[in-house]
Amino acid sequence: MLPAQLAIVVPTFNESQNVGLLVDLVDKALPGIPWELVFVDDNSPDGTSEAVRNLALADARVRVIQRVGRRGLSSACVEGILATAAPVVAIMDADLQHDETILKAMFERIGQGDVDLVVGSRYVEGGGMGEWSESRIRMSQFATKLALRLTQTPISDPMSGFMMMRRDAFMRSLPHLSTVGFKILLDIAASAPTPLRVAEVPYTFRTRQHGESKLDSLVLWEYVQLLLDKMIGHLIPVRFLSFAMVGGLGVFVHFAVLTFVLKGLGQPFGVSQAAATLVAISSNFFLNNMFTYRDQRLKGWGLLRGWITFNLVCAFGAAANVGVADWLFINKTYWAISALAGITVSVVWNYAMSAFFTWKKKR
Ligand code: GDD
Ligand code: MN
Repeated sequence: MLPAQLAIVVPTFNESQNVGLLVDLVDKALPGIPWELVFVDDNSPDGTSEAVRNLALADARVRVIQRVGRRGLSSACVEGILATAAPVVAIMDADLQHDETILKAMFERIGQGDVDLVVGSRYVEGGGMGEWSESRIRMSQFATKLALRLTQTPISDPMSGFMMMRRDAFMRSLPHLSTVGFKILLDIAASAPTPLRVAEVPYTFRTRQHGESKLDSLVLWEYVQLLLDKMIGHLIPVRFLSFAMVGGLGVFVHFAVLTFVLKGLGQPFGVSQAAATLVAISSNFFLNNMFTYRDQRLKGWGLLRGWITFNLVCAFGAAANVGVADWLFINKTYWAISALAGITVSVVWNYAMSAFFTWKKKR
């Protein structure tokens, strides 16, 4: 077997029915080119990793990286690329929606040596959206406009998940990647120290036959996170921003519950304040689990464990808050400034400690 000149990295989540079909199609599409297929599977419950391993036993050009306790399209792509030595790498969906027959043309285009990146595009002449709903088309076009401003690279379809690039170009972007969410092309283009030289090859997006799309309404939030990270990520980590925003929301939750228990149910202040605190901390926990730590969301018993550690972390945070604010106030700091300093200390504390104890990355 010749060493692969082209590695095709395929992120998967619940694609067991598609992986075998994809291997056959890629094989037909790339005669005479030494290729390899690297699937990066986030421990899919439908057994995609196992399915790929079975394929790999029959074809040495196929393998799988199985990630446990992690989720994310972009980070999967990056890890797949880093696991290969091929000088040219492609990223492609597993669900057969990306037309594999253009891989050869993309590879030849890169071979001409004057471009870093070839994008499979639905928007250039000859490409098409396939069967997409009106609203999804419009959303995609809006996101595209935003992306163009950010990357300053003329890509007609920066939302595409189908591309091929020179490894050296990827390596230049690597240190600056955000790897949040699923817009890996946008991330790579916006992270390039000098604008990428881009070509596009048209294709028509196919309709999915097996399995379902994993992109839900929260991907919009991930897109916002990616944009924020690219714009101000060098100043403030986006995770912290999200955590602080959830905390801000918690203040409203706190006051809503406090008012309800105090005025509505007529309970004493101490009881009302305790109830409000518990509800606000819990709601912060669940919101952070959903928005701030979407890529490592806790589930099942992990959720209970996380909730307990989060409460403990926040209890210490509250103590630090009061301690600092009180000390400043005693030392003649204006009361509002003292309070703000206390809040800041507790938010930073809660963020750092919950990252360590509650949403600790599995090793
Ligand atoms: N490893 C991993 N982890 N893979 C994932 C994850 C994840 O969390 N989420 C999705 N995938 C895989 C899917 O299994 C599939 O192979 C591919 O990523 C794309 O996911 P889909 O769920 O099929 O996305 P889509 O069809 O709605 O959107 C695609 O097309 C858009 C337009 O080209 C994606 O490629 C988008 O990135 C792209 O913008
Ligand atoms: Mn798809």
